[in-house]
Amino acid sequence: MRAPGPSILSARFFKEKRPEGDDLVVRGRFIVFEGIDGSGVTTQAHRLKEYVGKKLGLPVHLTKEPTDGPVGGLIRTILAKRVGVPTRDGRLESVDPRCLALLFAADRIDHLEVDILPKLQNGVTIICDRYYLSSFAYQSLSVDLKWIREINSKCIHPDLTIMLRVPPLVAEKRRLQDRWHVELYEETPKLEHVSANYLSIIKELQREGHRVEIIDGNRPPNEVHKDVVRLVRSLFTTTGNKKARARGSPQLGIDFASEGGGSADA
Ligand SMILES: Nc1ncnc2c1ncn2[C@@H]1O[C@H](COP(=O)(O)OP(=O)(O)O)[C@@H](O)[C@H]1O
Ligand SMILES: [Mg+2]
Repeated sequence: MRAPGPSILSARFFKEKRPEGDDLVVRGRFIVFEGIDGSGVTTQAHRLKEYVGKKLGLPVHLTKEPTDGPVGGLIRTILAKRVGVPTRDGRLESVDPRCLALLFAADRIDHLEVDILPKLQNGVTIICDRYYLSSFAYQSLSVDLKWIREINSKCIHPDLTIMLRVPPLVAEKRRLQDRWHVELYEETPKLEHVSANYLSIIKELQREGHRVEIIDGNRPPNEVHKDVVRLVRSLFTTTGNKKARARGSPQLGIDFASEGGGSADA
């Protein structure tokens, strides 16, 4: 079993971290939400941000992929089918899936360098709405997974990834509530494949020692949030700290007793 160590990209980041025992700045925690479209990823990411900021009183930053940066903007226009490769009969075909996979990886490197790593280093907890697991689960529909993992191998590993498991038909109903168009990858049969991909890739990541947890997302948002909070709290407890230290992250000291019974409501 390979323990999840820092990648080359993160080497600078870890070198710069303060020595243990210096409680001036401790590295923030990096938490990622994943799931098929309509599983509640964005909803739960927002709820957790409120919880970490208001209940735990920690500095927290909510972010997402694709980002609002230059590469992320290009990805969004491709996903919305508003840009592509023109065919002879004047139609637009989507860009090559390998090209799209590279764009996602490029956006992620930019995201880490410009936004995530500096904030983590300043003690800010990062909550990210999708990260490399989305690339693995979605893009491996049409691109070799091993290669997708390779092009993402310079990206640091989250401290915790939470996947919200929701039946594709339930997710479809939710999407139809508030969207007028269907994006690339969003058709339900495709999402059934994506859902299966998530489960098999998560097993692979868990075998490699990464912390990825699956939550039943087919419940009211409050119930899902309570389970999320249970998982997230373990990142800030003594046991969680021991595990984090083993992964190279310094200790965080949260006194949950003073947190008012640990209600999960934000
Ligand atoms: N647990 C839930 N139960 C019912 N509806 C939900 C739940 N979580 C989110 N929704 C609704 O489903 C839709 C999609 O949610 P969203 O969080 O945007 O999903 P995602 O980011 O995974 O695509 C929104 O209308 C949202 O209000
Ligand atoms: Mg979303």
